[in-house]
Amino acid sequence: MKINISQIDDEQRHLFTLVKALDLPVVEQTIEELLDYVVTHFSNEQALMERSGYPAFEQHLKLHEDFSAQVTEFLWCEELWNEERVQKLRRFLNKWLIGHIMTHDLRFGRWYAERRAAMRLASSQSRCIGSFSHAR
Ligand SMILES: [Fe+2]
Repeated sequence: MKINISQIDDEQRHLFTLVKALDLPVVEQTIEELLDYVVTHFSNEQALMERSGYPAFEQHLKLHEDFSAQVTEFLWCEELWNEERVQKLRRFLNKWLIGHIMTHDLRFGRWYAERRAAMRLASSQSRCIGSFSHAR
């Protein structure tokens, strides 16, 4: 599962590792680490979208915010942890992450690759024009 932006792919891989590490004896510290990393990852992804002028940035931001709200709600509704609740959280996180990456992040990855290709073409054309005018 890759969107072909190496930093984003690496961060997402790490997110899945943290979800996998969610286990009853270490659940609270893993959740803390996971939530910190989600914030870092979302911020990095959003910064890249904003910097590159991604047209669907606002909608994407909303998806990240909805996710954070759902996780907060899940964590606040109850305090005690048991095996079942940990499994439920893992299932939710895996399902959300896979669905989000395969649809929305992938859409950004494709747009980003096209934009980079267009910019490379534009800059190589301007270099050609530049060297041509020098030759005159
Ligand atoms: Fe995203």
